[in-house]
Amino acid sequence: MPTVDTERQTFGVVARSRAATVTAALTAAAKRIVPTPLAVKLLAARDGMVALRGDLLRARAAAIPFYSGLGDSANLLYGLVRSMKPQVCVEIGSARGRSTCFIGIALKENGHGTLFAIDPHTTTSWNDEPNVDTYSIIRRNVARLGIEKQVKLIRATSQQAAAHWQLPIDLLFIDGDHAYEGVKRDWDSFQHLMNPFGLVVFHDTIWDLRPDPNWFRADMGVPRFVEELREQGYPVITVDHDCGVSLVQPTIGGQALRARPNRSNAWS
Ligand SMILES: C[S@@+](CC[C@H](N)C(=O)[O-])C[C@H]1O[C@@H](n2cnc3c(N)ncnc32)[C@H](O)[C@@H]1O
Repeated sequence: MPTVDTERQTFGVVARSRAATVTAALTAAAKRIVPTPLAVKLLAARDGMVALRGDLLRARAAAIPFYSGLGDSANLLYGLVRSMKPQVCVEIGSARGRSTCFIGIALKENGHGTLFAIDPHTTTSWNDEPNVDTYSIIRRNVARLGIEKQVKLIRATSQQAAAHWQLPIDLLFIDGDHAYEGVKRDWDSFQHLMNPFGLVVFHDTIWDLRPDPNWFRADMGVPRFVEELREQGYPVITVDHDCGVSLVQPTIGGQALRARPNRSNAWS
């Protein structure tokens, strides 16, 4: 039975966000007390230790057999999370957790933020062959990397999770039901919850451009759907590796980069 306890989710996210605020205030206070050159060196040393821990975790993750088509593009998710510093990430389709683990490691390095990883971990039309009952496997992988605090596994379909969803989302990774209707339903269910400057990432977006007879499926609908978003004016950037990974900014025409002048404050 899927459970998405939104109150606890909200509380957890708010608590972590407060912890981040306290850490930032302490860092600012320390900067005022410690002489600047020393403070700069201490902060750089701290950042170096955090990066080293992340590198070690990614090396451990690289050695886990995920049986995943995401390949090195998992590092794209890692880099986005390190850069965006999201509070709330949502992943649809986790399987053994390659994407889950790379996002989780980045959140751990950031020191805040949560990934809600949604997958029923049962037979669907879109399991890779060795990836069917993957719940105990992903739990083990997440535990091996020590990212249980960052990753909340939600054993449900995206539709079941969406029915209870309330949290605003910074990063949404869609890699679940790859049929046209399935991927469209995922976009329709979560797009309106995206924060400004949030990003939606789709996997398997260039199957049509680079057809591979070994992997051909007539019911693959991700390229068609993401191409429709591009034609509607959503900014789409596609990396043409690992079957295509596309970053979509969920605002038609893109998010404005400067405040628009209003009437009382019009530019002359
Ligand atoms: C290609 S795999 C995901 C691979 C994973 N992201 C990775 O990095 O290795 C697709 C997954 O989507 C899941 N799935 C299929 N339909 C789904 C749905 N409606 N909601 C959530 N997950 C779904 C399947 O159970 C499967 O584990």
